[in-house]
Amino acid sequence: MKKDFIILDHVSYSYGGQDVLKDIHLTLEKGGSYALIGRSGSGKTTLLNLIAGFRKPERGSITIEGLILNKPRKETAFLFQELGLFPWQTVSEAVSMPLKLRGSRQEKDPKIHELLRQMGLISHMDKYPQELSGGERQRVALARTLIGEPDLLLMDEPTSALDAMTKEELQTLILEERCSGNATLLFVTHDIEEAMILGQKLLILTEEGTVTTRDNPYYGLEHAKEQLGFYEECIKLRRLLKLDV
Ligand SMILES: Nc1ncnc2c1ncn2[C@@H]1O[C@H](COP(=O)(O)OP(=O)(O)OP(=O)(O)O)[C@@H](O)[C@H]1O
Ligand SMILES: [Mg+2]
Repeated sequence: MKKDFIILDHVSYSYGGQDVLKDIHLTLEKGGSYALIGRSGSGKTTLLNLIAGFRKPERGSITIEGLILNKPRKETAFLFQELGLFPWQTVSEAVSMPLKLRGSRQEKDPKIHELLRQMGLISHMDKYPQELSGGERQRVALARTLIGEPDLLLMDEPTSALDAMTKEELQTLILEERCSGNATLLFVTHDIEEAMILGQKLLILTEEGTVTTRDNPYYGLEHAKEQLGFYEECIKLRRLLKLDV
């Protein structure tokens, strides 16, 4: 049996009396891939912020690798829709920043070069964000997220501003990189098809503020999107979330 990595033990959270998350009990296994879906305003970002250690549960507790979480961990990495790329940093400066913050003195760490190569960014390494396309910028932000070899990747709708093709390219990169590093992935998305591609398990945040878990039989299947069953599953999920089918 795989070891429980993250345990949310009866976690509740509210903003100024408005209950958002109610009594969530959830375990995430090490190396698992989880897609968190739910309607807008259901509390997905709030849940991610709690697991990141940016906010503390009002009731209940969060344990990661046996330790109660009370501040952000350095092994957790984040990727948000707002990329936070600085206009004065080139691609290679942005990607090496996490290593510098950790005290690495190596200006030309071979890891940086290898990651830029995998991400198809070598020819862009001396460019500034404003000289890149939206998809390229997103790949820079992903590379910066992965460079520190995190054990937990928290992503909040990082593909939502991308066109369909660029989105699929980024999804493939995320899957490949996660598998090679064996990090646990928790990915928030509005996009049901994206959740079905990236999530081995689907975590559904209900209107009541609780989470239900569902296995995804299409995860990791080659040509999943060419199977009718894939779309039937998407329709079921949309109904469950009360989205327009
Ligand atoms: N800092 C805050 N102060 C007060 N209320 C907040 C705050 N952040 C979020 N909320 C409220 O909490 C609820 C959940 O917000 P959250 O951002 O977690 O939702 P979400 O599921 O991520 O939504 P979306 O899909 O639109 O990003 C919303 O009703 C929101 O208005
Ligand atoms: Mg959100």
